[in-house]
Amino acid sequence: MVFMEMVLLQGFSTGVLLGVLLLLVVVYLLLSGSSSQDEGKDPPGPKPLPLLGNLLMLDLKKTYVSLCDLSKQYGSVFTVHFGPKKVVVLAGYKTVKQAFVNLSDEFGDRDISPIFHDFNQGLGIVFSNGENWRQMRRFAISNLRDFGMGKRGSEEKIIEESKYLIEEFEKFEGKPFDTSLPVSLAISNIILSIVYGDRFEYSNPQLHEMIQRACKNMKMAGSASVQLYNLFPWLSPFVKNQKQIVKTLKHTFKESEKLINGLLKTLNPQDPRGFADSFLIRQQKDEESGVKESPFHTKNLFYTINNLFAAGTDTTTSTICWSLLLMAKYPEIQDKVQEEIDRVIGECQPVAENRKNLPYTDAVIHETQRLASIVPFGVPRKTTCDVHLNGYLIKKGTSIFPLLLTVLRDENEWETPNIFNPGHFLNKQGQFVKKDAFMPFSAGRRVCLGEGLARMELFLFFASLLQVFRFTPPPGVSEDDLDLTPSVGFTLNPSPHKLCAVKRS
Ligand code: HEM
Repeated sequence: MVFMEMVLLQGFSTGVLLGVLLLLVVVYLLLSGSSSQDEGKDPPGPKPLPLLGNLLMLDLKKTYVSLCDLSKQYGSVFTVHFGPKKVVVLAGYKTVKQAFVNLSDEFGDRDISPIFHDFNQGLGIVFSNGENWRQMRRFAISNLRDFGMGKRGSEEKIIEESKYLIEEFEKFEGKPFDTSLPVSLAISNIILSIVYGDRFEYSNPQLHEMIQRACKNMKMAGSASVQLYNLFPWLSPFVKNQKQIVKTLKHTFKESEKLINGLLKTLNPQDPRGFADSFLIRQQKDEESGVKESPFHTKNLFYTINNLFAAGTDTTTSTICWSLLLMAKYPEIQDKVQEEIDRVIGECQPVAENRKNLPYTDAVIHETQRLASIVPFGVPRKTTCDVHLNGYLIKKGTSIFPLLLTVLRDENEWETPNIFNPGHFLNKQGQFVKKDAFMPFSAGRRVCLGEGLARMELFLFFASLLQVFRFTPPPGVSEDDLDLTPSVGFTLNPSPHKLCAVKRS
């Protein structure tokens, strides 16, 4: 109206005005028509409110549950607005595979939310992209192979650590205890010895503090207040958890600095003891040969070590705790595991080579990972270009949430998706069978780089513990009372509980 008055005041005739309006309408129709023909349509989703998007229909304390519910309504590719942030969610095996495996490069960047930017400053592996990510990931994979993954080195470290873990469990003399602390001490020691070349005694308070800090940060990173901060970073002054996370991280880096200074004093370029030594040697080489903008600098070392520790401890610890809880809940399945271990390896030390002869045990470990689905909506990705998926157009730079839980519980892929059933991984002859929809480590170019190490840890710790102990609920608690409801943080952990580890005769 104001516009019309202004135009009329300036002496334009009504005819000219109508002509301009008509022209605008035609241009609009042409533009909107061409966009739907050439570009494809947006994935469907609930209608967003201004600013709030779909926040009112999401339970930020259990985001994955809300997203699973929405996938039932909107299908396997849908849009959700987390406040002003548009996210495309992928659900079900076929869709996640199409995106992450067949369109690996297009879906291959990391979406770095404000809290993870505060955490990582674009450095390290998990929350970096481009050349920094490429170099750090390549270096980590090749060095973890030398000091950990796949090779005998890691097998020996895990076997040694499993003996210490058994001693820890024995101290409870069959009385109820929370398994998560001793398991996290053992799992943390594997990463620490790969990184620094040595393990820590369980009585060392430094080890306990490192674990507590990592756990606390992981919990706070998944909290509702931090999720809100991610959407509205200007809320920062009011989000206590955000400041606490940064403070805790500074403390962690101070500790890494002390440990690395210790390594530097005794560094032998001919004989690296672990990942950190290799990094320091490469750093010195790049400095000596004057490499410009080398990513091998101290900050990247700190962030990468922190990434390996954070990504590798909470996840593996949680999976082992789930496996022990499930054994206590399903004693007849525990019977079969123990019968197989007794028959195949007897009292010998379980080694990685045994896995192929222990198909039932292997199936139980896989089924634990499937049902627990500890990273329910993966680690968010971002599209690197405009890309078509299932007939929809997803624009470059869109945030992508892969609902891994809906892959691991896809009704089209699993006979009893919501029930613990090791038969999912066994054929009629009782042999182990691989399943393509088994994706707890995700897939494609950003697939978990610790998968090989994690799988070896899960097998050796689980087999060693089950060989020695019978896991039962505390006296007076029935198997039915053992609760499988997860405690939700960034990962899904078992809710706090106690078990008895009774020595087998
Ligand atoms: C049961 C144990 C584990 C599970 C379920 C798990 C799961 C995952 C998942 C779902 C991702 C996201 C991948 C993606 O973007 O699609 C990931 C990434 C990652 N994981 Fe693991 N992980 C486990 C153990 C480990 C271990 C032991 C390490 C360390 C040695 C590790 C290091 C990493 C790193 C560095 C990334 C980031 C990869 C990248 O961005 O390129 N993880 N993990």
